[in-house]
Amino acid sequence: MQTTTTINKLHEHVDKTVTLQGWVYKTRASGKIAFIIVRDGTGLCQCVLERNEATEPFFDEAKKLAQESALTVTGVVKADDRSVGGHELSVTGLTPVHASTDYPITPKPHGIEFLMDRRHLWFRSQRQWHILRIRATIIDAIRRFYNDRGYVLIDTPIFAPAAGEGAQTLFPVDYFGDQVFLAQTGQLYLEAACMAHRNVYCFGPTFRAEKSKTRRHLTEFWMVEPEIAYASLDDVIQLAEDFICSIVTRVLKDHRDELVEIGRSLDDLEAIKPPFVRMTYTEAAELLRGPRVKEFLENDLAQKKTRVAELDKTIEELDAQAKGGGKQWQKEKAAAGAIEAREERSEITEQIANIPHHMELAANFEWGTDLGGSDETIISRLHDRPIFVTHYPASCRAFYMRGDRSDDRLVENFDLLAPQGFGEIIGGSAREEDYDRLLAKLKHENLPQDQYEWYLDLRRYGSVPHGGFGLGVERTVTWLCGLKHIREAIPYPRMMGKFYP
Ligand code: 4AD
Repeated sequence: MQTTTTINKLHEHVDKTVTLQGWVYKTRASGKIAFIIVRDGTGLCQCVLERNEATEPFFDEAKKLAQESALTVTGVVKADDRSVGGHELSVTGLTPVHASTDYPITPKPHGIEFLMDRRHLWFRSQRQWHILRIRATIIDAIRRFYNDRGYVLIDTPIFAPAAGEGAQTLFPVDYFGDQVFLAQTGQLYLEAACMAHRNVYCFGPTFRAEKSKTRRHLTEFWMVEPEIAYASLDDVIQLAEDFICSIVTRVLKDHRDELVEIGRSLDDLEAIKPPFVRMTYTEAAELLRGPRVKEFLENDLAQKKTRVAELDKTIEELDAQAKGGGKQWQKEKAAAGAIEAREERSEITEQIANIPHHMELAANFEWGTDLGGSDETIISRLHDRPIFVTHYPASCRAFYMRGDRSDDRLVENFDLLAPQGFGEIIGGSAREEDYDRLLAKLKHENLPQDQYEWYLDLRRYGSVPHGGFGLGVERTVTWLCGLKHIREAIPYPRMMGKFYP
């Protein structure tokens, strides 16, 4: 009797006959032998078809099956370390389920716009497949972290009557004639819940009308937000450190092979150990203006220029090979290599063009302004562990943050920057628990008091120090997978000008 199984369970069936249900990932045939790499959603398996009595009835048809055709394939499982996934199938039977023709995403390199328009197909590709599985593990690790510690899950609303973060990034929605907004955060609702349950968290999609196209911004992203009653800023920072360490440990435990496959250095992730770096905003401002950053950026510029010169040489060589007299597959490989080298070159050239501007921004950084994207990148590139930047000026932070009682200009908040240039992944703070101070902040920011009466109630009835933070899932996936752009960190990215498919 033959068993239907999946590729991730082949190790249970060595030397036995099984059937796989999947799709053609790649094929290669020469004369009397054909290799079909099948993917079935759980992994890849090389299926080997030799032309013999058993395979004769379908050999020719199987050889012609195009990329992404659906099929079931039966054969004997062989353990083989050299083979993708560690097993091979020696095929005895094969049934096409659906013939695919002209699948648009071929093994050749494609431009990002082309791939993004075909996101619904693109995530069948190995690299995207790995990333989305790592994302699923990160989300599981997040839920487990809080559930295991007894935090109560509170689902906060998505239709919100007022801003939770800045009013500039609100998406308005017509709500039966009233205007409401898509939630930017669940935090304010969570603050109310922590006065009922003490330790709570929410986890859901949040929305920001970000009018800039950066590699870090989505308009729809997932955020997990814990909130704790009777907590100080230090308690919240400690929680964030434990939380990040637990996610990194889990990803390293479950996804070593995938991380290597997508080019993420395991050593870099293994270096994510407590204690993380801590600096105040004021120290960060001094760092940006100081000689260390200047020297760092000058070296960076020199290194990038050297790399461009190397790439120029590589491109020239590969172009010559692509046009030269080698075998067809060698020419194609050289042409693909040249495309990749050109892409890297254009990326680095763009970075080189930006460095002088970033140097100027850093050198002239003014105390009181928010850290910009390039400032965060610089601070983050100077470290190989995450960095807590604390105590920002009140003027550049949200109204709900607790005023620093020892320096009126500051709030008790933090951003956590992921190292190696990845930048902010968490924003958090102690919350203002004093009624008068909070009311003054609302007025100062011209926020409609009537919309926040319920929130002020929390400061009327049993107000206590409390705090929490928000971690962006896609920023975290981007960092842990070592992605260049956040768009690959979510199944269907939503960005300015991008909402299809
Ligand atoms: O720093 P933010 O705006 O903090 C809040 O929303 C607080 N209410 C959280 C809290 O204290 N409960 O956002 C938190 C995190 C950021 O650090 C970032 O990881 C992510 O959310 N984030 C975004 N991710 C992708 N695209 C965007 N446009 C994002 N804006 C914020």
